[in-house]
Amino acid sequence: MTQIGLAGKMVAHDLRRAGLINILGTTGETNVQGETVKKLDELANETFVRVFQLSGLVCALASEEIEKPLYLPENWPRGKYILLFDPLDGSSNTDVNMPLGTIFSVLRYRGQDKLPSEADLIRRGSEQVAAGYLFYGSSTMLVFTVGQGVHGFTLDPGVGEYVLSHERITVPAKGKQYAANDGNYHKWPAGTRRYLDWLKESDKAGGRPYSARYSGCLVGDVHRMLLGGGVYLYPGETDKPEGKLRLLYEANPLAMVVEQAGGRASTGTQPILEVEATKLHQRVPLIIGSREDVAQAEAFIQGRTI
Ligand code: AHG
Ligand code: MN
Ligand code: MN
Repeated sequence: MTQIGLAGKMVAHDLRRAGLINILGTTGETNVQGETVKKLDELANETFVRVFQLSGLVCALASEEIEKPLYLPENWPRGKYILLFDPLDGSSNTDVNMPLGTIFSVLRYRGQDKLPSEADLIRRGSEQVAAGYLFYGSSTMLVFTVGQGVHGFTLDPGVGEYVLSHERITVPAKGKQYAANDGNYHKWPAGTRRYLDWLKESDKAGGRPYSARYSGCLVGDVHRMLLGGGVYLYPGETDKPEGKLRLLYEANPLAMVVEQAGGRASTGTQPILEVEATKLHQRVPLIIGSREDVAQAEAFIQGRTI
């Protein structure tokens, strides 16, 4: 966590002065996800790789921005952990001074061989030993779990240290806000559309409709639900049932955090942490947040509520 914190400080430092040092905009490349690469995607990725290659803590790294995992060569210091990460989450926000994040998932390599194989990285979310995120908002925060609750640390820029500011975070059982890209409404299956219509009925959140809160940064939107309750969804679409978000770098780690805080994360039909991972860059629909809100979404998606 110290090394993640260090990489986070370096990324936060770059983000704070990005408009001054020509690191906004795109690189001109397309990544393995088929998405345009921002200069800051690349910079954040390099920062995490550099910090962890030298840390002696990991034997392999996998990132949303790299097609194949990086295995540490023999003459490098190696450890028993595997780090999977989304170096910069919400990259459409880079050029408009909006929130961004980094998401990470930690696995333990238990094999006998010196190096893991790709299959050792492609594991169920329930096998994670730690997970969390850095949130580059009005403050920089490190929020993580090692399987014993969730704690949040705020970076005090004056002293350059993370200070425990949110001890034992718990997600309210039900919230009053939702986050979804409603622009995709007509791409969603009927059950998902009905759920969104239901959220907007006049009396569903204590005498009013649910409030819409969507930042374009999953970390920021999930952080909001973690502290205040509610539901974030990036559902499957009729022509793209797997959705957009990545299982190993986004859904699994955030699911572990939210479940450790008493919330829930689901594909709509299955707990995220039980989804069988079959490939590195696998996508998955994600519904995450307060447990009662996620259960309600599942009921609509599964056609149990009309
Ligand atoms: P990334 O920037 O790592 O590719 O992730 C973007 C994700 C997530 O942060 C956000 O919630 C969602 O994609 C936004 O997608 P839309 O623009 O389709 O709403
Ligand atoms: Mn992301
Ligand atoms: Mn990303």
